[in-house]
Amino acid sequence: MRWLSVLLAMLWLGLSAPAVAEISRDEHSFAHLDEVRIRHVFLDLDVDFERKRLSGFAELQLDWHKPAARTLDLDTRELTIERVLASDGQGHWKQAPFALAPKHPAFGRQLTIRLSQQAPKVRVYYHTSPRASGLQWLEPVQTLGKKLPFMFSQAQAIHARSFVPLQDTPAVRFTYDARITAPAGIRVVMSANNDPAATGQGGYRFNMPQAIPSYLLAIAAGDLAYKAMGPRSGVYTEPGRLDAAAKEFEDTETMIDATEKLYGPYRWGRYDLLILPPSFPFGGMENPRLSFITPTVIAGDKSLTSLIAHELAHSWSGNLVTNASWRDLWLNESFTSYVENRIVEAVYGVEQARAQQVVGQHELLEEIKALPEIDQHLVLTLAGRDPDDAFSGVPYTKGEWMLRMLEQRFGREKFDAVIRDWFDGHAFQSVGTDEFLAFFGKRLFDQAGAAMTRAEVDEWLYRPGIPTHAQPSQSPLLERIDAALKAFIAGGDAATLNAKVWTTGEWLHFLNGLPDDLKAEKLAELDAQYKLTGTGNGEIAFRFYLAGIRADYAPMRAALKAHLIGIGRRKLMVPLWTELAKTAGNKSWALEVYAVARPGYHPIAQGTVDAILGYRPR
Ligand code: BES
Ligand code: ZN
Repeated sequence: MRWLSVLLAMLWLGLSAPAVAEISRDEHSFAHLDEVRIRHVFLDLDVDFERKRLSGFAELQLDWHKPAARTLDLDTRELTIERVLASDGQGHWKQAPFALAPKHPAFGRQLTIRLSQQAPKVRVYYHTSPRASGLQWLEPVQTLGKKLPFMFSQAQAIHARSFVPLQDTPAVRFTYDARITAPAGIRVVMSANNDPAATGQGGYRFNMPQAIPSYLLAIAAGDLAYKAMGPRSGVYTEPGRLDAAAKEFEDTETMIDATEKLYGPYRWGRYDLLILPPSFPFGGMENPRLSFITPTVIAGDKSLTSLIAHELAHSWSGNLVTNASWRDLWLNESFTSYVENRIVEAVYGVEQARAQQVVGQHELLEEIKALPEIDQHLVLTLAGRDPDDAFSGVPYTKGEWMLRMLEQRFGREKFDAVIRDWFDGHAFQSVGTDEFLAFFGKRLFDQAGAAMTRAEVDEWLYRPGIPTHAQPSQSPLLERIDAALKAFIAGGDAATLNAKVWTTGEWLHFLNGLPDDLKAEKLAELDAQYKLTGTGNGEIAFRFYLAGIRADYAPMRAALKAHLIGIGRRKLMVPLWTELAKTAGNKSWALEVYAVARPGYHPIAQGTVDAILGYRPR
């Protein structure tokens, strides 16, 4: 019986060991995580629109792990460090010497603070640069109301270091509070406990009692009004957009309820939305308690609200259970894309959920054709590279596809239980692919005779392309569109498409399926029947203009120009610039338009488009 007790002891050790191995370095951070970790951050900052900068101090509360350690290495990018104070734990603060290392092209500058003892708290006085990669400063004319300026942050992946000196790695979690001052008439909001009744007298106060990684630190300031949507959800945006936003996103509370039913309690208190100006470079960002959202999803018919489902889903996958490094971004985005689709199914029905799967898979297969093989793996190889450079649909849709395969093979009931336990068992932890393999392996694919094998999972994680065992999703709705598309391409009349009744999903699928060599006359026919040029639906507009550039369909040029100038969301404009850059004529037109568009773009978006057009900022 001795072997049995040994086995039991091994099992017991296996279960009681900490669930997550602590890493000592993250390849994108200068921090030494085995020596010291930030536990809490206090920010005391002023929002200065005149000088386009945040200034004040960040007070870092530290947990020391290595007895001999006397230095604190932080991440910074274009920060001016004024002075550093260290506390002795008895209420005395003393100046501490510090040094900024030379600039690394992707990671910024390492700030090394030398301490005479293991200080429990360190204060860094600093200000940001007007070109901070994680902030965008808008002039009043760039806002809807035209009267007050606007500022917002975007920290993911490694831009928090451009507005706060800290350990900028998802492997470290901290709680935070803040006092932020701003000019009269400006409301400040953060990824924390926002109070719609706050006046800002003496500064806005914030508290975030749940520990978060640095990429979820977020702040915005502007002429913001608030409207409640449900008992725990509401929307902040400029007054001129408030009613439209609250109406468009009125299903938010229903989405929260639906997600709780599937995956357990929402653990963050309130869930509000901040609708930003259209220069926001992403569709959405899952800042805890306050998702940041592009206004380009206000289509007027709720047809693009799956974006809200996506950002809400991150409250479980990503914010609760977090990728420990950017190599494992798929752990955040695949689970979120999968959960997003389950929310869409629960709230809008299975037809719509399936249609979105099909559109997503179609676009992934197109995108993959142009991606280097190494970027087609779910587990990314980033060594030395800016994580932004490896951004693609792979960690989203390929991983979502794998999870759906697991669901199909093991059955929904069983799979749902494992996902729920995964969230519960790793809540407020940062994890890597190894933890995924251990946890899901034990419950699913490492079991004898498993319906999907470890080898199959490895193929998704560590090989390019889509494994041959992958089952594509099917949508009867879109099969009808495929038939319509075929007839139209073969010369059929646009009027007989009967597309006036099509949903956004049907349109996206149709436009995605147009061949590259389609004649401009066919687009003219479509346009005459269905008025696509200038449509208020940004997703439809983007795909129509892409087809328009390829077919050299001139009548849409003015609207395309307005789109490129008005919308800074990368997904809706980067492919258009890329297409324009392919011919000399289009490229010179694009450079003229870009001269107008560029000042309104976010620094991250500017970088991307500069590279595409070979534009050199002076
Ligand atoms: N967290 C992402 C945005 C992100 C990812 C920013 C990586 C920086 C680096 C967000 O949740 C997201 O995925 N947004 C998508 C939404 C879409 C997939 C529904 C977007 O912006 O398009
Ligand atoms: Zn996401």
